[in-house]
Amino acid sequence: MWPITFAGFVLSLITTNVLCEIPLDLRKDFFNIYKGVAVQTKEVTKSHVTRDQVIFHAYRNEPEPKSIVLNDTNLDLLKGTKGHVIFITHGWTDTAYSEWVLSLKDAFLKTYPNDVVIGVDWKEPANQLYYVSSINVFDIGNLIADMIVKLVDEDKLTMPQFILVGHSLGGQISGFAGKRLKKLGKTLHRIVALDPAGPLFDVRPDDKRLNPTDAEVVHVIHSDGGSFGFKDACGTIDFFPNGGDFQPGCTRVDILDISTVKDPVVCDHERSYRYFIEAVQNPVDYLVAKECSEWSYLRKICNETSTVSMGDLTTTKTGKYYLETNRERPYNKNTDKASTGLLDRVSKASKSFGDNVSSSWNSFAKKIHV
Ligand SMILES: *[C@@H]1O[C@H](CO)[C@@H](O)[C@H](O)[C@H]1NC(C)=O
Ligand SMILES: *[C@@H]1O[C@H](CO)[C@@H](O)[C@H](O)[C@H]1NC(C)=O
Ligand SMILES: *[C@@H]1O[C@H](CO)[C@@H](O)[C@H](O)[C@H]1NC(C)=O
Repeated sequence: MWPITFAGFVLSLITTNVLCEIPLDLRKDFFNIYKGVAVQTKEVTKSHVTRDQVIFHAYRNEPEPKSIVLNDTNLDLLKGTKGHVIFITHGWTDTAYSEWVLSLKDAFLKTYPNDVVIGVDWKEPANQLYYVSSINVFDIGNLIADMIVKLVDEDKLTMPQFILVGHSLGGQISGFAGKRLKKLGKTLHRIVALDPAGPLFDVRPDDKRLNPTDAEVVHVIHSDGGSFGFKDACGTIDFFPNGGDFQPGCTRVDILDISTVKDPVVCDHERSYRYFIEAVQNPVDYLVAKECSEWSYLRKICNETSTVSMGDLTTTKTGKYYLETNRERPYNKNTDKASTGLLDRVSKASKSFGDNVSSSWNSFAKKIHV
């Protein structure tokens, strides 16, 4: 048996004391995906995800209250928001209260003080066998779209304010929210998909997965393409750090012998949000990517004059962009640690377990976030 528990990392970080156990069937599922044999199912009979299974937790700097759970009667509180309204959606077996979501929330509120960040918690539908969770994403996308429509139609906010950020299945969810909004005559301005989920989506048609028409800008960061992440370009602008599949500082594991696994097997998949947190903290001239094809990237002949920073949330450039990163924080090449200001409380806290490849079972359990 594996001594897997979420307690170690959750308790150290989050005020809510969540104690999670990953059930054995999910763990097996996880390894099957890692080995590239995600279960394909033709038809699943299941009930729809309902509104009460999703929590929209909004955060802002000012005014009070700084943190609220949105419901149908308190949306007025967001009226007058001057900055972006950012939805952050987690992936499989994850929650909206995990370390990276809160770090990313803090990064947004620091860089863009007038923003509102909404953590979308869909923990229960995300804690199913992968193929079930991968179907639940349609409903979650619709529920996010419904929330946006309410916020806009009641004349509180405008469409260009919204940015949907999602990791893995959360990246796919953001796409489904965009599709739904389009059907309702509203176009989402920007989606940021952090290593959007690949398994089972790579075999679905374009309209059943994240694609470049889901928003005006679909900004995708690929860090584990072909394994947990979606391999091919699927946005209007696609970033491929270190080529987009294997990340430096992440180790490979022996997929034939699960009991030997001590290293973080979704290290590559998690890098997408680790890079993006730094990118939001440093939106200009940081993690700068060059326009390139895979062919020219491998030959180091990218276009040196066509560049874009990974955290540039104003860019409308399109195409494939490549960059190299450091093995650990700070990820930006040629950055002097002392001068970036990014090693704040949150980064330090996450560094102590995030990339610690030797840090045992708690760390490993935490990695099972797809
Ligand atoms: C909605 O949230 C507010 C607090 O923001 C709370 O006072 C109210 O009771 C909630 N309403 C419902 C129907 O849950
Ligand atoms: C490089 O990018 C610049 C700016 O987008 C463009 O004008 C130029 O034609 C590109 N060069 C090549 C060789 O593609
Ligand atoms: C990494 O994990 C090892 C083993 O659990 C531990 O001894 C070490 O202090 C950790 N390093 C950091 C930076 O947390």
